[in-house]
Amino acid sequence: MAERPLEIEDLPGVGPSTADKLREAGYLSVESIATASPAELSEISEISESTAKKIIKAAREAADIGGFKTGKDIFEQRKNVRKLSFRVPELDALMGGGLETQAITEMYGEFGSGKSQIVHQMAVNVQLPEDDGGLGGSAIYIDTENTFRPERIEQMVHGLGIDNADPQEFLNNIHIARAHTSDHQMLLVDNSRDLAAELKNSNRPVKLFIIDSLTAHFRAEYAGRGTLAARQQKLNRHMHELFKLIDEHNAVALVTNQVMSNPAVFFGDPTKPIGGNIVGHTATFRLYLRKSKGGKRIARLVDSPNLPEGEAPFMVEEAGLKSC
Ligand SMILES: Nc1ncnc2c1ncn2[C@@H]1O[C@H](COP(=O)(O)OP(=O)(O)O)[C@@H](O)[C@H]1O
Ligand SMILES: [Mg+2]
Repeated sequence: MAERPLEIEDLPGVGPSTADKLREAGYLSVESIATASPAELSEISEISESTAKKIIKAAREAADIGGFKTGKDIFEQRKNVRKLSFRVPELDALMGGGLETQAITEMYGEFGSGKSQIVHQMAVNVQLPEDDGGLGGSAIYIDTENTFRPERIEQMVHGLGIDNADPQEFLNNIHIARAHTSDHQMLLVDNSRDLAAELKNSNRPVKLFIIDSLTAHFRAEYAGRGTLAARQQKLNRHMHELFKLIDEHNAVALVTNQVMSNPAVFFGDPTKPIGGNIVGHTATFRLYLRKSKGGKRIARLVDSPNLPEGEAPFMVEEAGLKSC
């Protein structure tokens, strides 16, 4: 798949024939429409000026340029933020109550540090009612390493300790797709849009988007130093698409990123996540996971816009994530 920026057909009011006219007139991108004047757009593409105005407005919103919001707007939007509980009090406390909607949380750590276990647990928890720490939703799970295990979901559902919790029902509300390449992975985020739109007004709206692992394909495909910029650009756009989805659905995004065990490759610092600063800067929250003594694991909140740095211990048991 070619890298896919927003197409002009994605704008409301732009059907195939209008899109053709706009392209003929040289409006090839959403940005070029966003900065056009209604008069020139209507004249060149033979649409009414009021339609042109609407299209330009949509393009400006989509291109995310020139729009100021007041602090109050943002305050109002953040009123809708919900928290998805880990159902481990220490982890919830670390994250100010759980994983925030409208935010991307990136978990990074070595192989075996518990990243995939946590995404499995959250795919279960998201389905619980709000009173039990969930969001009453379903999950979309992009699996790049073939590590999704329905058996683990089953064990974790039993581990909830909730009467009548039926593992089959939970499995039904997790929509899994395997991604075979980074392009495929990006395409799947695109397809998630349709699935999420379909489920938006159902009793199981998508409230959790998982990508496990976000970076594995990118790391494998962009192996040389010379390709770093291309990789980061693509990863950045991938994250941007994800942000749009979670904004629209007031959902949580949870992505994983494996730290290189060989510090000589790519980056000097072995605790620095692959994807480097791009992922680091784009994700809203970053959790660093590591194994400790006696099967204990530690999550460290490394980066957060509004929470102090800190650490929380937890265990991975057959029944799922538990307190130590
Ligand atoms: N059924 C289980 N019971 C207890 N612990 C488990 C179970 N399944 C996996 N684990 C633990 O989770 C670890 C794997 O963690 P995982 O999340 O897959 O790592 P990664 O960070 O590489 O994704 C295993 O090494 C094991 O310690
Ligand atoms: Mg894993």
